[in-house]
Amino acid sequence: MGSHALPRPVLRRRIRGALWALAAGVLGVGAALSTPPTAHAAESTLGAAAAQSGRYFGTAIAAGKLSDSTYTSIANREFNMVTAENEMKIDATEPQRGRFDFTAGDRVYNWAVQNGKRVRGHTLAWHSQQPGWMQSLSGSDLRQAMIDHINGVMSHYKGKIAQWDVVNEAFADGNSGARRDSNLQRTGNDWIEVAFRTARAADPSAKLCYNDYNIENWTWAKTQAVYNMVRDFKQRGVPIDCVGFQSHFNSGSPYNSNFRTTLQSFAALGVDVAITELDIQGASPTTYANVVNDCLAVSRCLGITVWGVRDTDSWRSGDTPLLFNGDGSKKPAYSAVLDALNGGSSGEPPADGGSGQIKNAASGRCLDVVNAGTADGTQVQLYDCHSGTNQQWTYTDAGEFRIYGNKCLDAGGTGNGTRIQIYSCWGGDNQKWRVNSDGTIVGVQSGLCLDAAGTGNGTPVQLYTCSYAANQRWTVS
Ligand code: G3I
Repeated sequence: MGSHALPRPVLRRRIRGALWALAAGVLGVGAALSTPPTAHAAESTLGAAAAQSGRYFGTAIAAGKLSDSTYTSIANREFNMVTAENEMKIDATEPQRGRFDFTAGDRVYNWAVQNGKRVRGHTLAWHSQQPGWMQSLSGSDLRQAMIDHINGVMSHYKGKIAQWDVVNEAFADGNSGARRDSNLQRTGNDWIEVAFRTARAADPSAKLCYNDYNIENWTWAKTQAVYNMVRDFKQRGVPIDCVGFQSHFNSGSPYNSNFRTTLQSFAALGVDVAITELDIQGASPTTYANVVNDCLAVSRCLGITVWGVRDTDSWRSGDTPLLFNGDGSKKPAYSAVLDALNGGSSGEPPADGGSGQIKNAASGRCLDVVNAGTADGTQVQLYDCHSGTNQQWTYTDAGEFRIYGNKCLDAGGTGNGTRIQIYSCWGGDNQKWRVNSDGTIVGVQSGLCLDAAGTGNGTPVQLYTCSYAANQRWTVS
């Protein structure tokens, strides 16, 4: 077997798809030929391409545009998750105190579900787009109004929403790391956790998200402030399931490659992550592909939503930040996103069920079971590559790396520094691994990367927050 970079399955899958297509042609359309489960042709729409890795690709939908057939045909064809751009916000759903109006929200919701799409709810507690009556409230009266609003909206959509943006944009821009000043913040610092606890009780079936912008760059104070809040919530049992990264990238808030570290770091706290309002000034295909690959690299990244369909539908149309031109044609960024979704995460055996070595890019040494031991708990290390059976790994359809037939590459924990061992295969997520196109191997349970802490013989292999450095990249040979 020759040496290959791990993205090989993508190429193989395309070759395989072509071979099966050829065979189908020879046998005729009606022949009883089924595509084997591991053979995927590249998908031709964003939603289907994202679904290959269990993710979704969504868009914001405006109720007022549902009568535009160019708009709805693109939206229906390409996306499988929908966010109401404005129609489920506070001013739309509770225009007068205690009088709820779901007319516009339901138009978006019904269009989505009638076309087989899921819905993200946006948004329940926010300083902006409050109706006049709420803007003028303060103190305990406003706190109660917030609680009543969450209960009113969530009970209407109970059991119907995949993820709710429970609290939106509660942190200040700039270097302070402080909460944003707002009437809600002035009701007391605990308003966010009260919103989340209220939301959990109102609809236990929805994932509950905190959603914000300018929290994509890991070095920014706002990012760290939200990270600290989520960590605190997880430690204290405040119900939070996900963090939404709006991802409105422009020259003042540009994409940075450390976004992947941000997604990974939040995921390591035990929450899902999602890209919720993506648009990129100028729509660089490379930047779009980078964002998609960042999501694909993080097993807890649920999916990506772009903030509108065509450039002309965008809240900042002058930036031409979306995937479709005003006439409905596809932009170069569209192709970049589709290609990334089709090739970004293999989810397939890198060795076709055959055995091979797994070589570390930094050291050139191989993943090796210490002293060729076979007992459960035997450590895995780096060692000079050789042909021994203690370096022959088989990637299974289930996502395991097996050795000696019935032992699996196993993480005995989920934190940084967890040592990697072999253990009898039992089907747990701590024995499943996602092989990514960038050469990283991510534990499905932990979301952390397979990492060599050094380069010499005997270096232990561990789990660690993904940095994408060479000590976390691997090739099979
Ligand atoms: O519908 C009225 C129309 O009747 C009126 O003539 C017109 C005059 O200005 O206003 C129209 O309403 C506008 C509405 O969008 C619908 O187009 C509002 O003025 C305008 O403020 C509103 O902007 C929305 C903005 O949120 C408000 O904060 C954008 O559409 C929407 O894309 C944007 O979305 C936000 C997310 O919710 C949160 N994250 C940031 C993101 C972008 O700002």
